[in-house]
Amino acid sequence: MAVLLAHGGWAPSVLWSRSLGRRRTLARRILRITGRSPACRSRPADVAREARILLLAVPDDALAGMAVELAAACPHMSGRVILHLSGVAGLTPLLPLRERGASTGSLHPLAIFSSRVPPPDLLLGAGFAVDGQPRARSVARSLARALGGRPFSIDTRLRPLYHLAASLVANDVLAIFHLAHRALCKTGLQEKEAHQVLVHLLQGTATALAQTTAEAALTGPVSRGDAGTLARHLSAAPDARTASIHRLLSLVLVDMACTGDRMGEATARRLRHLLAASPGQGRNRR
Ligand SMILES: NC(=O)c1ccc[n+]([C@@H]2O[C@H](COP(=O)([O-])OP(=O)(O)OC[C@H]3O[C@@H](n4cnc5c(N)ncnc54)[C@H](OP(=O)(O)O)[C@@H]3O)[C@@H](O)[C@H]2O)c1
Repeated sequence: MAVLLAHGGWAPSVLWSRSLGRRRTLARRILRITGRSPACRSRPADVAREARILLLAVPDDALAGMAVELAAACPHMSGRVILHLSGVAGLTPLLPLRERGASTGSLHPLAIFSSRVPPPDLLLGAGFAVDGQPRARSVARSLARALGGRPFSIDTRLRPLYHLAASLVANDVLAIFHLAHRALCKTGLQEKEAHQVLVHLLQGTATALAQTTAEAALTGPVSRGDAGTLARHLSAAPDARTASIHRLLSLVLVDMACTGDRMGEATARRLRHLLAASPGQGRNRR
């Protein structure tokens, strides 16, 4: 986020991380972008004292402890805006900071940060869930826009649901990819080749989704009502887990095909019967 904010004209002026090496590496990256190096501090409280806007980019479970630590070190925080980046956490973990006078909020980018050197346009067009007290929320919206994103609000009580949706697409798809890759390697393809051809296939799915709804983008045996092919998949699955995930997801696809009015009742019944039957299918049960 620090690197992307630097690209967006909101370069951090001061940084903290537990590792001196990582602080310095990040400061050098920002220097290369802006021509100005942020200061590196060895304690988070020093950053909190100096910065007017503070972003807590730590794991969700570390947020509450960090807020307590900062609040203990900084009794007067009025005028400060403190945002966390969590998708699931509300504002409760930041309560100790609010009690010190800070305006607290959150800024959650709907994007995957898997590299320490993200491309500058990573967040262009990305959704951002923003929340917080008025000032914090307004700053969060400005940051989201500076990064090219689309800010929106989510009711605090619904954040776990919001984050479930994000995780299904950002993370669970990788579990499906992993199972597909293992299955493809068992057919004799080299790992790298299997990876590349599956990535190409996945990109095709994403391209179709960018143009139409998931229901309309649906292809494959479920969309054709091909029960024989599905039965062969289930018996070819290398383990029970792959078979049961394929069965569960195919049941969802049947529902999607029905709502899209592409499948008659009789076909849907036949597929549901096949997919609900015989738990534990798959050749090498685990
Ligand atoms: N990764 C994503 O794709 C993504 C997307 C959207 C939002 N987020 C949100 O961004 C926040 C950070 O997520 P992340 O994936 O970047 O997490 P992460 O890689 O696990 O942690 C971020 C950094 O926090 C520091 N850290 C780790 N444990 C800590 C602790 N106990 N106390 C203080 N600092 C600690 C580490 O830096 P040092 O070792 O250098 O201190 C680490 O590099 C989370 O709230 C997450 O929900 C992440």
